[in-house]
Amino acid sequence: MSKNSVAIVTGTRPSIIKFSPLIREFESRKIPFFLIHSGQHYSYNMDRIFYDQLNLKPPRLRACFQPSSYPGEQTAAMLRGIERILMEVRPKLVLVGGDANTNLAGALAARKLDLILGHVEAGLRSFDWRMPEEHNRIIIDHISDYLYVPSSEAKRQVESESVHGEVFVVGNPIVEAVSENLKIASRKSKVMSLLSLRQDEYLVCTSHRKENVDDKNNLKSILNGLARVSERTHLRAIFPVHPRTLKRILEFSLAVPDGVELINPLGYMDFLVLVSNSRLLLTDSGGAVEEACILKVPCVTIRDNIEWTETLRVGANVVAGVDPENILRKSLRMISRKRNWRVPFRKGAPKKIADHALRLLQTS
Ligand code: UD1
Ligand code: UDP
Repeated sequence: MSKNSVAIVTGTRPSIIKFSPLIREFESRKIPFFLIHSGQHYSYNMDRIFYDQLNLKPPRLRACFQPSSYPGEQTAAMLRGIERILMEVRPKLVLVGGDANTNLAGALAARKLDLILGHVEAGLRSFDWRMPEEHNRIIIDHISDYLYVPSSEAKRQVESESVHGEVFVVGNPIVEAVSENLKIASRKSKVMSLLSLRQDEYLVCTSHRKENVDDKNNLKSILNGLARVSERTHLRAIFPVHPRTLKRILEFSLAVPDGVELINPLGYMDFLVLVSNSRLLLTDSGGAVEEACILKVPCVTIRDNIEWTETLRVGANVVAGVDPENILRKSLRMISRKRNWRVPFRKGAPKKIADHALRLLQTS
C-alpha cells in the first residue's frame, strides 16, 4: 500500500457498518485506501459477518488479537497494533469514526506519528460523564485535524469548545448505509420466517451500554420494562443480545422474564429487516436510534440522554431511562404515534469525505 493513501480504522460493529458506504465511494473512485481492523470486536457475528455481508474486500490488517476486559489494556493493545501498521505504511490520512476505544486508539496512533487525522461523526455529545464514549469523542475531536460532523448543531458544539481542527458539516453516513442495504436486506434476509414474525406484531430491544448493563439493577429494570411492554401490548419482544449484555445476565444470574425472547446478535441484513418491520424499538444504541428514525419505526431510548437530539425534536424518539414504569408509559405513547416525522439527517457524507480525502492526497 502506497504512502499516498488513506487508512480507515475500524474494529467495532457500528464502525464497520458506518464506514461501508465510504469504502464503496473510495473503491468506485479508485481512491487508494486500506482498512485496519483493531480487533476490539472479534466474535464472528460482531465482526466478520459485517465484512462478508457488506462485501468489503480490501486487505484487512488486524491490529490487536488479544481481547481484554480491561479498557485501558484493550486501548493500549490496539494503539500499539495500529501504530505499528501506520509506521510501516505512513498513509497521508487516517480516518477514525465514532467514539469507541478503537477510535481513540487509532486517533492517538495517528497523532503520535504526526499523520493527518480525520474524525468521522465528530461533534456528538451526550453530556453524560459516566460514558467512556463521551471521554473518547471529546479527546478525538480535540486531537483531530479534520472533524467531519453530521450537523450544524455538532459544528457549533465543537466550535464552542475551540477545537484545533477544521470542521466540515457532511451529514450522517448511516443514511447511505441504510439506503444501500435495505433493498438487498429485504430480498436476502430470512429473519422474519426463521423467527415466525409478522410485521408490526413485535418489538425489538437492544442494550449494551456499560452504564446500563454493567449495573445489575439497571439491567434488571430494562428486562422488566421490556416484559411489561410486551405483556401490555401483546407484542413479542425480540432482544438480539450483545455479548457484553449476555455476559452480565449470566454473571448476575438474572432470570429473563417471560415474553422476552433473547436471540444471538444479528448480521446487518437481518437486523435492518427486523427493525424495519417492527412496531417499536427500545434501545440504548446510537446507531440503532438513527436507523429507527430513518426507517420510520418509533423509538424509546433506554438511557437518560441521547446524542442524536434531532430524533427527539422530530418526535421519532423519546428518552425513558431504565425505570420499568417509565419505559412502559413512553412505549405506549410512541406506539400510538403516527410515523409521519421528517427524517432530520443529511445524506452525502461518504461523497463529501471522499472529495476532501482526494484533495488531501493530491496536495504535496
Ligand atoms: C463498544 C464501544 C461502544 C459501542 C459498542 C458497539 C467502547 C468504550 N465501547 O462497546 O461505544 O457502542 O462497542 O457494539 O469502546 N465481546 C465479545 N465478542 C465481541 C466483542 C465483545 O465477546 O466480538 C465481549 C468482550 O469480551 C467484552 C464485552 O463484550 O467482555 C464488551 O466488549 P467491548 O469491546 O469492551 O465493549 P462494547 O460493550 O462492545
Ligand atoms: N446491529 C446489527 N445487529 C444487531 C444489533 C445491531 O447489525 O444484532 C447494527 C445496527 O443496525 C446498527 C449498529 O449495529 O447499525 C449499532 O451498533 P451498536 O448498537 O453495537 O453500537 P452503537 O451504535 O451504540 O455504538
